[in-house]
Amino acid sequence: MSLSTIALAVFMKAIIPEGFGPSVRLTLGERKRPVPGKNDVLVKVHAASVNPKDWKLNLTLARAAPPLGRRLIPPLFGDDLAGEIVQLGAGVEGFEVGDRVYGMDMRLRTATLAEYAVIDTRRIALMPANTGFIEAAAVPLAGQTALQGLRKGQAGPGRSVLIIGASGGVGSYAVQIARQLGCHVTGVCSTRNIELVQSLGADAVIDYTAGDYRQPAPGQRRAFDLVFDVTAYETPASCGALLAPAGYFISTMGHARPALRTLLSRRRNASLLRVESWTADLQTIGEWMTAGAVRSVIDSRFTLAEAQQAYERSRSGRARGKIVIAVTPG
Ligand SMILES: NC(=O)c1ccc[n+]([C@@H]2O[C@H](COP(=O)([O-])OP(=O)(O)OC[C@H]3O[C@@H](n4cnc5c(N)ncnc54)[C@H](OP(=O)(O)O)[C@@H]3O)[C@@H](O)[C@H]2O)c1
Repeated sequence: MSLSTIALAVFMKAIIPEGFGPSVRLTLGERKRPVPGKNDVLVKVHAASVNPKDWKLNLTLARAAPPLGRRLIPPLFGDDLAGEIVQLGAGVEGFEVGDRVYGMDMRLRTATLAEYAVIDTRRIALMPANTGFIEAAAVPLAGQTALQGLRKGQAGPGRSVLIIGASGGVGSYAVQIARQLGCHVTGVCSTRNIELVQSLGADAVIDYTAGDYRQPAPGQRRAFDLVFDVTAYETPASCGALLAPAGYFISTMGHARPALRTLLSRRRNASLLRVESWTADLQTIGEWMTAGAVRSVIDSRFTLAEAQQAYERSRSGRARGKIVIAVTPG
């Protein structure tokens, strides 16, 4: 084997983040191909997706970590992946080389903006049969946040659910999944996204630009069994007039200040969500996708070399559905 062939086998194209905070630069470079641990698989990544978490965490590190800490915790971007298994860890059962899988791992090690990534098999599932890599890569973080938030809020047949932020990555899945769970769904979005949210199956839509819907007039009082705040802007207090007496308030504000966390933990039926990836949850969403009941809404698609633009799109806060990165062309 020539030296250049060995180099090809060991190195891969990957996004190398440099710097922290607003000045982070995401450039295409080369990194060592990762090696799967006992319970991991090595995946040839076909598509990855963009989540606000990456740039938010990067901003937090910029503020909090001392310079030495920053060197010890290199910024990593990319949790979601869809691709093909090319190598199995020594202890892996239930997956084969060649399987098309999707999933995510939040443990700061997956770094899916690369040609290859390792991932624990508890965090992946086989891709739904009728779904391409782009649509599958959009699902893991946002789709499971939607499912786990609705489950935490006891969403079920006949329950009325308000989804604040219904047009974004998480919200677009939440509307569809809530419908699958048998809920009566009301989505909150801006005027330009009303049609999209209706097309996802919302029974009613509230335009947040038309007035403060959180303060309904006495005759129009609404009482939702669950308020799922996907924007992470609201609190149980700001949504008090929208909640039924025993209604649940669930927020995606994953990294809340300790004081708020304590406040929420004291309130019955209010909680903050921290998503985790599980094979069973991916399979549940995958079954709905196979049945055509849930789909990925793709806001925009970028190549790996365009990762910086993809994250700028996410930071705009205006994405309709998911921003996806096609790692392999096609
Ligand atoms: N804790 C966790 O485990 C977890 C997991 C996933 C996500 N999150 C967090 O959840 C949040 C949402 O994530 P995402 O991926 O859905 O974000 P996203 O896709 O970037 O959300 C963008 C969407 O939010 C809508 N929006 C903005 N302001 C709004 C408002 N005031 N009312 C209603 N809709 C509004 C925008 O619509 P317009 O342009 O029409 O305003 C846009 O469609 C982020 O803060 C993320 O960090 C947390």
